[in-house]
Amino acid sequence: MAASGARGPGEAREDVAETRRVAVLLSGHGTNLQALLDAAAEPASGLAVALVVSDRADAYGLERARLAGVDAAVVRPADHPDRAAFDRALRDLVAAARPDAICLAGFMRILGPEFVRAFPDRIVNTHPSLLPAFRGAHAVRDALAYGVRVSGCTIHLVDEQVDHGPVLFQAAVPVEQGDDEASLHERIKREEHRLLPLAVRLVADGRVRTDGRRAWVVEAVPR
Ligand code: GRF
Repeated sequence: MAASGARGPGEAREDVAETRRVAVLLSGHGTNLQALLDAAAEPASGLAVALVVSDRADAYGLERARLAGVDAAVVRPADHPDRAAFDRALRDLVAAARPDAICLAGFMRILGPEFVRAFPDRIVNTHPSLLPAFRGAHAVRDALAYGVRVSGCTIHLVDEQVDHGPVLFQAAVPVEQGDDEASLHERIKREEHRLLPLAVRLVADGRVRTDGRRAWVVEAVPR
């Protein structure tokens, strides 16, 4: 987030109407990225997707970025000597985009501490279960296998543990008879698409405060 900085007399408050910049990390189809792009395309949204980064060159989300005229990059672990180097490369690329918020939208890598510490309380993740149930890469499959009657999504801030940081939003999605992983995941994604842009906007606006695991929203503050 840009620093508010003191102004001299007569200096324009150019930052008041400043567009909030979002960097999106993804690995796959990018329907959540699309929800963010659509939100940013709303008139006077004040939101811009400034950068999309994928760890996979074949992620369709990269194509969505290109179609929307957004800078897109690929950073692959295989191109770096170790995880810490991958983390630093990702951190430096994202930092150069000067994001107000960073969104993990189906990014299937665990971010290391060097990345997470560079953007405290600025990274938002969406996870397709009601956390803390069913962490990990197969949340929808695991919830179905367990036989839950209700699952959903969790939009949360990212800390140094996987699928763990303070919760911003959750939505419940009932499991229907005959659901398979794809059908349940599709209905969960509808909720993610609704809530993720709201959460990203709040974080980008600097309106989220945390105390331990609790997160809450404050009124907009002039910057
Ligand atoms: C979402 O369900 C997200 O919760 C999970 O991966 C999925 C990404 O979907 N981490 P998409 O690529 O945005 O369509």
